[in-house]
This record gives sequence, structure tokens and C-alpha cells, in this order.
Amino acid sequence: MTKTRHFLQFSDLTAEECQHIFHRAQVLKRRHVSGELYRPLPGKVMTMIFEKNSTRTRVSFEAGMSQLGGHAMFLDGKSSQIGRGEPVEDTARVLSRMSDIIMIRTFEQNMVETLAANSRVPVINGLTNEYHPCQILADILTYIEHRGDIRGKTVAWIGDGNNMSRTWLQAAKLLGFKLQIATPVGYELTVLDGQDYGADCFAASNDPMTAARGADLVTTDVFTSMGYEGEAEARRQAFDGFMVTSELMAAANPDALFMHCLPAHRGEEVAAAVIDGPQSVVWDEAENRMHAQKALIEYLMLGRIDD
Ligand code: CP
Ligand code: NVA
Repeated sequence: MTKTRHFLQFSDLTAEECQHIFHRAQVLKRRHVSGELYRPLPGKVMTMIFEKNSTRTRVSFEAGMSQLGGHAMFLDGKSSQIGRGEPVEDTARVLSRMSDIIMIRTFEQNMVETLAANSRVPVINGLTNEYHPCQILADILTYIEHRGDIRGKTVAWIGDGNNMSRTWLQAAKLLGFKLQIATPVGYELTVLDGQDYGADCFAASNDPMTAARGADLVTTDVFTSMGYEGEAEARRQAFDGFMVTSELMAAANPDALFMHCLPAHRGEEVAAAVIDGPQSVVWDEAENRMHAQKALIEYLMLGRIDD
């Protein structure tokens, strides 16, 4: 019996598997845009568990499953027994007997790991406090579409040492690019996976200009992630000077792209002139959540398909 594959962190995939998914996402995107129907998952069900808010993640998974011929079902913490304390192990056993794949957005990575350990079917991390691997699949797909291979390139992260930047770091090591990160003091990125991130893939400072210099892609995120709302005011003060502005973009390479996973706050972490400007690819990035995840779902459920 082949082992059930999950996508709980970016590093759960090999570099070769990532490249396959990026390629396959472009194939599926072309087919979708041309109106071709591709429905390899008739009768298959995805259960989606959301313990945090979402627009893109919910819609991209639900639309993606429908397009693949399957169905996606929404469960939230409050209205399900998850919110009343049913053990995650039991939830996993039950859900994986009635559905063919599970997606979960929650707080602790530990919960996702426990869910997967007790599931018969693939589990996808749709965001935890620690990681957001589906977003980085979409972001790199977007980079590839606009600029080609990301190997050897430099990505500047300006802002919080959070789930997004931690996932970028895993991707940098796996795919051979460099992450230059600038965080305010006290909000530095902490590495959780015990990996050794050498200077060829990671440079950290507290200075946005240092991070942006020579970058091929500049990216940021909200100052206050979901689950940290109580820190919002302190963060607003600590992140003063960390807005991605046109001046900051000018320190990057002339053809640098700007990305933001969204939702965005114009005038806080990014100036309107940047997110709505010519270097921004945020709408392609958002759309690519769906195409990248369709390729991921196909790979986890059906294995490698090359047609
Ligand atoms: N980027 C992202 O994950 O968006 P949602 O929170 O809307 O799902
Ligand atoms: N870092 C953000 C990403 C939102 C998509 C959060 O966790 O809220």
C-alpha cells in the first residue's frame, strides 16, 4: 500500500515534486481558461475545516474541487464539534472515512500534524500560525509565469517573522533562491523545523532597505496575523517604517515584482502606489491559489499525471 501523502509544510514536497506541481498548475490553468473540462475526481469529496477567517482559501479550494469534478464541504470550528472540544484524532478518523481529502486552516501546526497522523486520506494545511504552504506554491507559480525559474533569484520579505515568511524560507532552501528578510526588532523569524538555513538562502536584518536591495521579488503581509489581534496596536507602532513604498521598490532590481498574499491594508504594510502599481502581480497571485491547489490536489490524490 502506498503511503498517504500530506502537505502540511512546504518541505513536505521534494524540489522535483514542486516543479511538477508548478508545471501541472500551468497546464490545468491553460485548460481552464480555454474552457476545457477536466474532471478526474467525480464523486470525490474534500472536507474543508476553517477555524480562522478566509476568502481566497475557501473559494480557491471549493472552486478548484468543483472544476476537478468533485465537491468541497465547509466546516467551521464553531458550528462543528471541533469547537466543542472533540479530540482532533477522532475528528480525523471520522472525516477521513467520509471524505477523500481534507483541508484545514487553524491555529496550531500541531493540530494539523495530529489530524494528518490519524487520517487515511491526504491532509492539506490551509494556514496555521506557523506555515502557509499553499500560498507560497501560488506565489512561486506566479513568479515563474512572469519571470521564469526562481532558482538563483532573491526574494525580499518586509515585515513580520510569521507563517508566510517562515514558509518562504523553506521554499528558498528547497528551490535554491535567497530570502532577504527585514523584520522589526522583536518580530524576527524563528526557524521551527530544525533545518540549517545557510547564508546562501537566508539573510536577516531589521532594515527594509537592506532586504530590498537587489531583490527580484518584494513581498509583505499584514502586520497583525489572525490570532494575534490583541497585539495590533503594539505591532502598528513596532512596524512603523516597514511599509513597502515606491522608494523601497526602487532599491530592488528594476524588474522586481511585488506580491502580497492578501488581504492587504493600503497605507499600512504597503503603499497604494505599489500594490496598485505596475510591478504588482497580486491579482494573478490570488488567482493562482486555485490553479496551484488543483495541481496539488491532483498530485496528492492521483499521483503524477503528465498528459
Ligand atoms: N491569502 C489568503 O490565504 O487569503 P484568505 O485568508 O482570504 O484565505
Ligand atoms: N499572515 C496572515 C496571512 C493571511 C492570509 C495571517 O496568518 O493572518
